[in-house]
Amino acid sequence: MDAILVKGGGPLSGEIPIAGAKNACLTLMPATLLSEEPLTLTNAPRLSDIRTMTQLLQSLGAEITTLQEGRVISMSSHGTINTRAEYDIVRKMRASNLVLGPLLAREGYAEVSLPGGCAIGARPMDIHTDGLAKMGAEIELREGYLYAKAAGGRLKGAVIDFPFASVGATENIMMAATLAKGTTVINNAAREPEIVDLASCLRRMGAQIEGDGTSRITIQGVDRLGAATHPVVADRIELGTYMLAPAICGGEVELLGGRLDLVGAFCEKLDAAGIDVTQTDKGLRVKRRNDRVQAVNVTTEPFPGFPTDLQAQMMALMCTAEGTSVLEERIFENRFMHAPELMRMGAKIEVSGGTATVKGVKRLRGAPVMATDLRASVSLILAGLAAEGDTLVSRVYHLDRGYERVEEKLRACGAQIERVAGE
Ligand code: EPZ
Repeated sequence: MDAILVKGGGPLSGEIPIAGAKNACLTLMPATLLSEEPLTLTNAPRLSDIRTMTQLLQSLGAEITTLQEGRVISMSSHGTINTRAEYDIVRKMRASNLVLGPLLAREGYAEVSLPGGCAIGARPMDIHTDGLAKMGAEIELREGYLYAKAAGGRLKGAVIDFPFASVGATENIMMAATLAKGTTVINNAAREPEIVDLASCLRRMGAQIEGDGTSRITIQGVDRLGAATHPVVADRIELGTYMLAPAICGGEVELLGGRLDLVGAFCEKLDAAGIDVTQTDKGLRVKRRNDRVQAVNVTTEPFPGFPTDLQAQMMALMCTAEGTSVLEERIFENRFMHAPELMRMGAKIEVSGGTATVKGVKRLRGAPVMATDLRASVSLILAGLAAEGDTLVSRVYHLDRGYERVEEKLRACGAQIERVAGE
């Protein structure tokens, strides 16, 4: 199993290209099930999660070819579609549950395995299933599978009030509603840029959607959707992660393809911590103002609030800040597993429930540490960049799910980092 070795060191300098968004691509790909016509995605990220989604859709009968080493994904789901998403694939990746809405919309029937446990939280699907039930789906859980059937063979429009602005439930219901009979309104919908990207792709396919990006989305169902080609939006979480590299170890880096509107709340916190972020014609330029950053408090919230997927990386930065910061995780109930690993590197962190208090230290020290989930793994790499000595991060298969060639991108900016054979 691979590991990544980071030799802490000096400032970074250079450019890092930002790839297409994992969390956009994972919801755009199931949209192929909504049409008999081809759907082509460009600017797709090269990640193991995308390969898992490809495997899942192929198991359902979609034809998928990739070009430019996976940068372009061409999909077609004409003809017979298998309506059963097997546990063997779904357990590898939760986002597999995003085929539920499209299958129900297309076939009026679906059998989708529940994903099971996740390191960062329970992550139930009640908001998804309650919404689909409002649209006339009869849903039953049996042997770990959701068996869903659209009454009368076709979903119908409904007004759905979400108790929480769930990203996945918004995506599943929005896709299901495109082919439903009548109008669907989602109140308290999620507003993430990945939702806007999905809506704009569905519109290219002929869907009638309004309000994406706000908390009220209206979808007028149509009888069929057509072909489309759609560029995947830039990955704001990869962007935010690399913005923290020059912040944590000094220097100046330009993130190619970065956009301020994707990372608004995050940039406000960086500014308060002493980090300059400038929009350039190529992307975002990031530079630390002083030798040390200032401690800032952070609370994770749905977009446009501070993203939970950048909380671990922000904690790594706060480990070396001047002063004490308080990080509150409000989205997932178990998302501080990186804290004990950072403490192995000399960080001073106290975790109590959903709150972590971080007392900044002058310097972290390198150590062997273990990745526990995707975002935790990259926070350990960031900490390693600023630490004295060597940091060996094991279980980096977590990392490859969401970051393309992390060591090459950082090495191009002067970091001493390499992939090594682990235990
Ligand atoms: C998406 O997960 C992202 N994944 C996550 O990114 C991200 O952390 C999350 O949104 C929040 O921004 C993908 O897009 C593939 P939610 P999702 O439904 O859709 C609870 C990463 O690192 N909830 O908004 O699963 C749930 O338990 C990953 O790239 C219910 O209670 O997130 C959680 O506490 C990690 N019932 C909260 O809502 C439901 O039916 C947010 O979940 C659905 C969700």
